[in-house]
Amino acid sequence: MQRLRLLSATLALVAVVSFPAQPADDVKPPPAGYRHWFHVNTMIIDKASPLFKDLGGMHNVYINSVGEAALKKGGPYPDKSMFVTDLHDFTVSDGSYVEGARKGLAVMVKDSKKYASTGGWGFQFWEGGDPKKPQVTDAAKQCFACHQPKKDQDYVYSTYIP
Ligand code: HEC
Repeated sequence: MQRLRLLSATLALVAVVSFPAQPADDVKPPPAGYRHWFHVNTMIIDKASPLFKDLGGMHNVYINSVGEAALKKGGPYPDKSMFVTDLHDFTVSDGSYVEGARKGLAVMVKDSKKYASTGGWGFQFWEGGDPKKPQVTDAAKQCFACHQPKKDQDYVYSTYIP
């Protein structure tokens, strides 16, 4: 009981001192034509990964033409650069990883002023790619915290594969 009370007091304190970072609200999913953008890479996170619960699936990453040159240099990215991760389920059959239905669409869009508190990137994730199901209410906590270690690549994990 004591411990519970202490925990809720701590949580209340956190709620007071940290302001939620604004999610990307100027992108309407699915960003038009992303399947015709440059395909950056595909990564599969399966059950063996500690990230499976949060990020499990087949990650198909695309970048728009604004950011393409910067990707090749490893950043920094100009404003209006946009990454889309088209996240899909997959099944494994006889050692073949087969792409399945869409789990969601994740977006990072660069606007160095508007999203200054999250490295200049706006983040959003739509469950199933459904415009009515945005999941991000606090981009700093839900997204940016995990991208922060990639500061030297402008907070982007993906690198150019020639
Ligand atoms: C637990 C760590 C973690 C969290 C939390 C996380 N990401 Fe990522 N993100 C990654 C990793 C690792 C990659 C590179 C793997 C890949 O290719 O998908 C990545 C890649 C991306 C990419 C492709 C560009 C890049 O950096 O390579 C986008 C877009 C993206 N994430 C959006 C989001 C959004 C939106 C959220 C919040 C809903 C989020 N991420 C939360 C770890 C994370």
